Amino acid sequence: TTETPTGKCPVAHGTGGTQNRDWWPNQLRVDLLNLHSPKSDPLGAAFDYRAEFKKLDYEALKNDLRKLMTDSQDWWPADFGNYGPQFVRMAWHSAGTYRLADGRGGGGRGQQRFAPLNSWPDNVNIDKSRRLLWPIKQKYGQKISWADLMILTGNVALETMGFRTFGFAGGREDTWEPDQDVFWGSETAWLSHRTLEKFDAPLGATEMGLIYVNPEGPDRNGDPISAAKFIRETFARMAMNDEETVALIGGGHTFGKTHGAAAESHKGPDPEAAALEAQGLGWASNYGTGHGADTIGSGLEVTWTQTPAQWSNFFFENLFKYEWVQTRSPAGAIQWEAKDGPDIIPDAHNPEKKHKPTMLTTDLSLRFDPIYEKISRRFLENPQAFAEAFARAWFKLTHRDLGPRSRYLGPEVPREVLLWQDPVPAVDHPLIDDADAAALKAKVLASGLTVSELVGTAWASASTFRGGDKRGGANGARIRLAPQKDWAVNQPEQIDKVLKALTRIQGEFNLNASDGKKVSLADVIVLAGNAGVEEAAKAAGHDVSVPFAPGRTDASQAETDADSFKWLEPAADGFRNYQKDGLAVPAEVALIDKAQLLTLTAPELTVLIGGLRAININVDGAKHGVFTDKPGALTTDFFTNLLDMSTQWKAAGESNDVYEGRDRQTGELKWTGTRVDLVFGSNSILRALAEVYAASDAKDKFVTDFVAAWTKVMNLDRFDLA
Ligand code: HEM
Repeated sequence: TTETPTGKCPVAHGTGGTQNRDWWPNQLRVDLLNLHSPKSDPLGAAFDYRAEFKKLDYEALKNDLRKLMTDSQDWWPADFGNYGPQFVRMAWHSAGTYRLADGRGGGGRGQQRFAPLNSWPDNVNIDKSRRLLWPIKQKYGQKISWADLMILTGNVALETMGFRTFGFAGGREDTWEPDQDVFWGSETAWLSHRTLEKFDAPLGATEMGLIYVNPEGPDRNGDPISAAKFIRETFARMAMNDEETVALIGGGHTFGKTHGAAAESHKGPDPEAAALEAQGLGWASNYGTGHGADTIGSGLEVTWTQTPAQWSNFFFENLFKYEWVQTRSPAGAIQWEAKDGPDIIPDAHNPEKKHKPTMLTTDLSLRFDPIYEKISRRFLENPQAFAEAFARAWFKLTHRDLGPRSRYLGPEVPREVLLWQDPVPAVDHPLIDDADAAALKAKVLASGLTVSELVGTAWASASTFRGGDKRGGANGARIRLAPQKDWAVNQPEQIDKVLKALTRIQGEFNLNASDGKKVSLADVIVLAGNAGVEEAAKAAGHDVSVPFAPGRTDASQAETDADSFKWLEPAADGFRNYQKDGLAVPAEVALIDKAQLLTLTAPELTVLIGGLRAININVDGAKHGVFTDKPGALTTDFFTNLLDMSTQWKAAGESNDVYEGRDRQTGELKWTGTRVDLVFGSNSILRALAEVYAASDAKDKFVTDFVAAWTKVMNLDRFDLA
């Protein structure tokens, strides 16, 4: 919050003063659902990034980037005459915030431009890298997003330094304000150390403000062996195995140097805290020239290889060739020097000067951890295997959060399909038309399955989607595969029964269809859900048709990385009134989280909860929140009954998870509800939304809005649709 020197309201609409978050720090963050609204986007609703990207002169851009690498600027002179290494680090830090646990973070949204990432201690001096790129961003305008440009520049840097990359795909759309939904930890001091025990998912780093781990070892202990444990854990949290981890660290540290010419105390404030005249650049140093040979970054002063601007195998050669002795950088940080090593390492700015090989504590982990050592030795002896592993791991690192291949753009998209891309087969047959869809829906409704089963299964299938890394969703019909089919939230027995019936209907259709026409089970699941919604609307007196777009296909178990899919299992799904035992946060907080992953707005969340409770897709048929005498009908009863003052609510028992609503006069038990249900009456913002749907004039609007929100969820992963 801003305060004027006088403490008075600065302007008529001042931003100062004590805010709601100051008064009520635990307030539910409904506002998270309304971030990144069209109001923050200067490009407007009509802007189509895919179309713009296709107009890009890709080769011209790459050429400009190649030239940029050696176009050293006086205000930030390039080490070794080459910006390549610092651009590799920029790209890696852009992508490296990704976490598998919730799919948030990563390089897909250009978030490195905003706080906190622009000012993370670990991102020191990456502000300069982005600023060096600005003239090129300016030249190509909206045809290339910052998010894409940062990753592509990393690739071009590698290529100009003699490395053959695996490919590049564009398609990352910029955001225009910070992603406040990402939980980066609750520490209030930068570089607060986390122990392996107190380092819960989804966090991806061992210290606040780091991408992964402390280069000096856990809590600066200078111990490569314990550092290895943290490296393994943090890299696993972004879906990297041991081989990928060794390849990435070794490959990255084949290039460039670290910066620690003098003590930290010379460094000025980070970009977000810097003075106006600094124009968004931070960490200004008053040591010497403040740049070039005098640069202070991490505080370490290491150059790993003989050719820091050229791909080589020197990282592993040096790692194994020397005995390493602990030393300190000029800034006092723990690092390692080759004992009796020759002066073979070039200086970044003085061609006359040479240095002994140096390493970080975390680099030595690749030799002294027994598992990493085996891999490192293989890379030492087989440079080709190393190059191949680094190329693949780099591609995965930088594309992990881009979503399905249908989002990939540009001439350098690799042909090879990779398991971590959650591939689905291509459509290789004519799709069903409206008449077929209608016939299929009639069959589904005649099958004996209930509306609740139909809607619940479609919800279970589609609602695994998460907006961060765009994984999950109904496409692929992975709900019938491990691990999804066995999740408790999916009620394995019920899902099995429903899917058997739907598979039968699908099989009959495909057997009898002419002209090679086919329908996938993934499509039938959604279609069946739509049929259920239409039926529920009809039961409430509304004749609606839920839009349907065929074109999903069915993935196989072999196309499903069960290990990485397990992270999509919801700890709670308030839409089905489900939560796992021992949920770490109140259920309503988990609901907002889930809604945010589903990219729902607060009004969409509200209407979906009201509708799904009316239909009752609660896990195990629980009656909580089913505030209606006509379950299965798409009525506004959830809202009208929740807001009805004749009901008085009290916690049932001690748990504070279930509440009883009794008639205020007779004491008769009318309803039961969970925290997720009651929050629509208790939270002032959600209550305001609930009032809209409880009003007497809302019945049509409710059904229309529900169908729109439902359709949005069913199609969240349909990047193939225009
Ligand atoms: C530089 C740490 C993994 C690429 C650095 C610096 C540190 C560091 C402290 C110096 C920053 C400065 O003072 O300017 C680590 C740690 C890692 C890790 C602790 C994990 C254990 C990686 C990975 C890559 C990478 C996976 C890329 C694939 C680079 C590059 C530089 C660098 C290219 C040189 C930048 C320049 O020359 O300006 N790293 N890093 N690092 N890192 Fe890493």
